[in-house]
Amino acid sequence: MSNTIYRSKGSFRYRHIHELKKDIEELELDIKVSNNTDLFETKVDLGDCIIPNSIVSLPMEGGDSNEKGSPTQLTYRKYEKIARGGAGLIWLEAVSVSKDGRSNDKQLWLTEDNWIEFKKLNDLIKSSAKEEFGEDYNPITILQLNHSGRYCKIKGKSNPIIATHKRDLDNRLGIDEDYPVVSDDYLKGLENEFLKSAKLAKKAGFDGVDIKACHGYLLSELLSAYEREGEYGGSFENRIKLLINIIQRIKEDKECEGLILASRLNVSDVLPYPQGWGMSKSGEYIIDLEEPKKLIEILKDKGVSLISLTMGNPYFIPHINKPYDIGTYIPDENVIISCNRLISEIGKIQRQFPEVNIVGVGYSWFRHLAPYVAAGSLENGLCNLVGFGREGIAYPDFAKDILRDKEMKKAKVCISCSKCSEMKSKIGTCGCVVRDSKVYLPIYQEMKREEN
Ligand SMILES: Cc1cc2nc3c(=O)[nH]c(=O)nc-3n(C[C@H](O)[C@H](O)[C@H](O)COP(=O)(O)O)c2cc1C
Ligand code: SF4
Repeated sequence: MSNTIYRSKGSFRYRHIHELKKDIEELELDIKVSNNTDLFETKVDLGDCIIPNSIVSLPMEGGDSNEKGSPTQLTYRKYEKIARGGAGLIWLEAVSVSKDGRSNDKQLWLTEDNWIEFKKLNDLIKSSAKEEFGEDYNPITILQLNHSGRYCKIKGKSNPIIATHKRDLDNRLGIDEDYPVVSDDYLKGLENEFLKSAKLAKKAGFDGVDIKACHGYLLSELLSAYEREGEYGGSFENRIKLLINIIQRIKEDKECEGLILASRLNVSDVLPYPQGWGMSKSGEYIIDLEEPKKLIEILKDKGVSLISLTMGNPYFIPHINKPYDIGTYIPDENVIISCNRLISEIGKIQRQFPEVNIVGVGYSWFRHLAPYVAAGSLENGLCNLVGFGREGIAYPDFAKDILRDKEMKKAKVCISCSKCSEMKSKIGTCGCVVRDSKVYLPIYQEMKREEN
């Protein structure tokens, strides 16, 4: 990530909802707006458990574990705030399933030796939420399990583990064409790593696990391994095989009984075929949902009851995945168009699968107007639950304010300045530099001093 910062076209400038509505109409966007904020109170029935409202705090990797992968005071502090913030579903950040699959040495990593620390984390979330909202209140917790693939780092140095070559992504990381791809045996072995982590997550008390297949990490990369040879590449069935096998193994394992099966999936990589999943095979820059829809049908049949949809690759085209006002380059589209892409494509999936609980994303950029955009999505069937990522660290009690006061406060919202992303990419550890400045501004400043 370079040090230069750029302001995106069409940065946020709306004071009132009618100004936003005007732009939505003029630009003929699919974004919907509604004042019906009561919709956030809708409970979501997952069969064995109930999500107490329709608001989700999305995963935000904080890079604050100790060297063994256990949560530290920073981790506990973040999740206690989120728990007290009132989101009905707390989707915890990416936790590595193996030592070599970590995104950096400070990424959480769940093992036989530290599962009890993760239990403490889950207990803290549950007890803090009960203290805040009463004994009967039970937010649902999902632990995101991941292998970082080409974005693995050891001791601050990139250590890519790739399933297939992708020209543009390889170039960005300095991977040459002779760099080895992992073997089929390595991939097969990951079934055990994910299963082991799922069993530990269950033991630690989490309600469910997310088998993560988004944002260009290993399972996500496999979805577009069109050019890989062997068991995990080429055909659609081969490319989804590892994800499906992991889910099947967890489903069948007695020790995982009762765990909610979830997945965070890219609906499209928004990189031209053959580099990207969910794109037209013509090689043009056109999203094609045929394969993602086929996969969701299969996941549904396998008992996956929650799917959080997202897009793009935060290391390569971050504006697609987390639309921003300030970042490392100027996207070739207005920010509202990036938000519209997320909301609209996710909506197409939710409308085709109304029985699947899809978590939508793309709302944080709307700042204090986000509740009305999110309510518009719920009202119009664009998603069953609305997810917020950066607000979770900028404004952890955003859900409480939406549910209780029917608004988000201007002085507390995320301003999409990308400083948390900059920290994540450079030092691993990150938080909100703007709204949680007492803790994260000194870390950010120290990072900047070391750069100079
Ligand atoms: C610093 C940072 C860390 C993130 N960590 C994760 C993560 O661990 N897992 C994940 O699936 N997404 C992660 N995301 C993506 C967010 O969950 C979310 O999809 C994205 O920020 C867009 O939502 P928003 O506009 O509400 O922020 C991260 C985003 C940022 C900025
Ligand atoms: S640093 Fe804070 S305000 Fe800036 S993008 Fe991250 S969460 Fe938002």
